[in-house]
Amino acid sequence: MNNIKFKLLPQIFLFVTLTLVGCKKSISNDDIVVAPPTISSLKNKTTTFFVGVATRTPQIALSSYTQLIESEFESITADYQMKMDVILPTKGNFNWVKSDEIVNYAITKGLRIHGHALIWHESTPDWLIDYKGTDTEFELEVKNYITAVVTRYKDKVTSWDVVNEGVADVGGTLRNTIFKQRMGDDYMAKCFKWARDADPNCKLFYNDYGFETNTSKQNKIFELILDWKNRNIPIHGIGFQMHINYLTPKSQMQDAITRAVGTGLLIHFSELDIRMNPNNDISSFITERSTAQQLKYKEVVSMYNAIPLANKFGITVWGVKDDDSWLLKHHNNYNEWPLLFDATFKAKKAYTGFLEGIN
Ligand code: XIL
Repeated sequence: MNNIKFKLLPQIFLFVTLTLVGCKKSISNDDIVVAPPTISSLKNKTTTFFVGVATRTPQIALSSYTQLIESEFESITADYQMKMDVILPTKGNFNWVKSDEIVNYAITKGLRIHGHALIWHESTPDWLIDYKGTDTEFELEVKNYITAVVTRYKDKVTSWDVVNEGVADVGGTLRNTIFKQRMGDDYMAKCFKWARDADPNCKLFYNDYGFETNTSKQNKIFELILDWKNRNIPIHGIGFQMHINYLTPKSQMQDAITRAVGTGLLIHFSELDIRMNPNNDISSFITERSTAQQLKYKEVVSMYNAIPLANKFGITVWGVKDDDSWLLKHHNNYNEWPLLFDATFKAKKAYTGFLEGIN
């Protein structure tokens, strides 16, 4: 499957979009009928990378969400329901209900689906954390899990975050997860190989947060990636989660992106949101702050747009509308407006900023 969007000449943009959009974006179902897109939508403005959004059930069963998702976006990520403690909550008992629903929705609508995430310390089920078997048996459980999930969604899920957040925030070391403890320091390489064995065509990502501004974390991530590349471990992409705020320095983000481009890998801004009240100094979304958000979205999207075509994979926004954002609960601050649409599904200035960044 081709992950690179066609570069369309402006003069044939309309014609090609309206005639070929079904081919370009459908994944494996030839019967899909894609509604004619509105020209100004995000997905139609970007000719070189995919624009995605994180979603979940029951959103994908509500027309208020699906109309917006399908008119603006062309890729989705499950924000939680394709993680391990949902799919394998107890030993040996796979529960595919939610993940199937999300994957089937994507396939039916011709949306690309990015798998998130095979291994994440925060979504590891209790039975595996408390595992009583030997380390060898533990490793076999992990291998069987990765193999089962990637095999089930082979040729449907385009790409997977194989390991999420495997590097610590301080000290430039691996995060001390149950996977590192039980499987050793090279556990991530094993996971990548098992995923590749299950689906040789799937793009495999390492995904993490904060390394655009955290030098020791960034150094460790790039050390790992270069080591994996040298050893022919199948890694195809780097996910920058991009949970940033309106004060995150552009220069640091730019340096990290330039470094990632140098690896030759695909780059995914995989969970973009922009906090506008990180210091809790406002109690309503004042105009000055919404304009600042427009500028920051424009800056981030422009930076992404400027990377070489060969590195482009997509930008995924982490949630549809402000009041859905994980950040509200995570920071226990409900005075936060990090996304492109407000609570009434209305496009914000942030949305305009995203469009401006593409131009
Ligand atoms: C978050 C989801 O958005 C929430 O709904 C859930 O409660 C917790 O996980 N980094 C990641 C994502 O890689 O998987 C997290 O998603 C947000 C932080």
